[in-house]
Amino acid sequence: MAQWVVPSRDNPFDWYRAMRHEAPVHYQSDGNYWEVFSYDHAKTVLSRYQDFSSDFRAFWQRTRQTPPKRALFAESLIRMDPPEHTGLRTMVNPAFNAPSMDRLAPRVEALARTYLAALDPAGFDFVRDFAYPLPVTVISELLGVPASDRQRFKRWVDTLLVFGERDPFRFRQDFFRDPTRQAVREEMEAYFHDFLELRRHTPQDDLMSHLVSQEVEGARLNRDQVFQFCVLLLIAGHVTTTNLLSNAALWLALHPEWFDTLRQGGPEAIRLFVEEVLRYWSPVQRISRFTLHPVVLGGVEIPADVPVVAWIGAANRDPAKFPDPEHFLPTRRPNPHISFGFGPHTCLGAPLARLEATIALDLLLRDWERWEPVESIESPTMQGILYGVPQLLLRGVRRTVH
Ligand code: HEM
Repeated sequence: MAQWVVPSRDNPFDWYRAMRHEAPVHYQSDGNYWEVFSYDHAKTVLSRYQDFSSDFRAFWQRTRQTPPKRALFAESLIRMDPPEHTGLRTMVNPAFNAPSMDRLAPRVEALARTYLAALDPAGFDFVRDFAYPLPVTVISELLGVPASDRQRFKRWVDTLLVFGERDPFRFRQDFFRDPTRQAVREEMEAYFHDFLELRRHTPQDDLMSHLVSQEVEGARLNRDQVFQFCVLLLIAGHVTTTNLLSNAALWLALHPEWFDTLRQGGPEAIRLFVEEVLRYWSPVQRISRFTLHPVVLGGVEIPADVPVVAWIGAANRDPAKFPDPEHFLPTRRPNPHISFGFGPHTCLGAPLARLEATIALDLLLRDWERWEPVESIESPTMQGILYGVPQLLLRGVRRTVH
């Protein structure tokens, strides 16, 4: 077993490499769960829902555990299996299709311009001043909640996804039972209650109204599901993209020669660069499932009713799939990373995240000659299941004057 390699928050990759080599399907006795590290196994775990379920409620039932009273996400799309999952997903899919992205692009661009213009070349925190406000404002407007509440959303995300995980390398089954998380869930419910009530009486042109209309007309969604959908979109829809934007900005700060190369390469170079940031510094490092019955994977039998963690960050550096995986190759093609997951739960918001990242990079390359870190920093760090930079102090030289 490759237990001698200790993963660190800023470098989980040596551990991934050792595990992929020594114990690609691994039982973790501290926590009683399994974890997989290779590309093929990760894809199998994420996509074969007939074996690896996303449904926590069914897991609690089968293992005769009392379900937590107010489990966040437990009744949302991300925690369901097909066919129940398929119906729900179909309801919001149109909001993220290509025509919807075309409609959103001018607004994303306008917001990105505003935040970029406010950056002070003498020094700014890229996360606080750009990478956080851009996606949180976009998703808030899409949903129909005030973006001015974003400090509150940040506190929720920090509690739910980021700081809640004491050890980012351990999956904890008591995730949903944590009292702080349950308190945040109650606060979110109270917050959304009034907005949703309002939309029930006076619909507007936003996702909340759309979800509420599904609830009324076809009774396809119950009230709690509508609430959970809103929370899922709000939470999943911004912090992950924040990490993508700030990981890209960090990489540029550490390799300023790429400002010119990407500028010259145009939209296609930017597109490939974004995909390589997603692969190399994957914003979401792991996703979990539960076995429905005993499953043999890589010659190892995983018993029924246990959690299985798919390490996306490890899969994305599997040499069996990616030549020279430990190197950041900004022009890598093809780049079949699984940073947005794989299978029925493949990220619904991937087109939006890509739209925001390509628009942001295009504008910042036009606007900035180059920038550099103010403090010594070499890589993002693990924050719960996420990999990103909590703060990124940069300074630089502008090309245009605002
Ligand atoms: C770089 C940014 C993003 C990354 C890396 C990311 C990553 C992921 C991953 C790995 C999954 C799969 C979860 C699973 O298999 O259980 C997922 C699902 C999901 N993501 Fe994202 N995401 C990003 C941005 C977004 C955005 C912008 C939105 C919404 C506006 C969003 C909404 C969702 C939703 C609703 C799901 C659940 C889909 C389903 O269960 O069918 N994500 N995301």
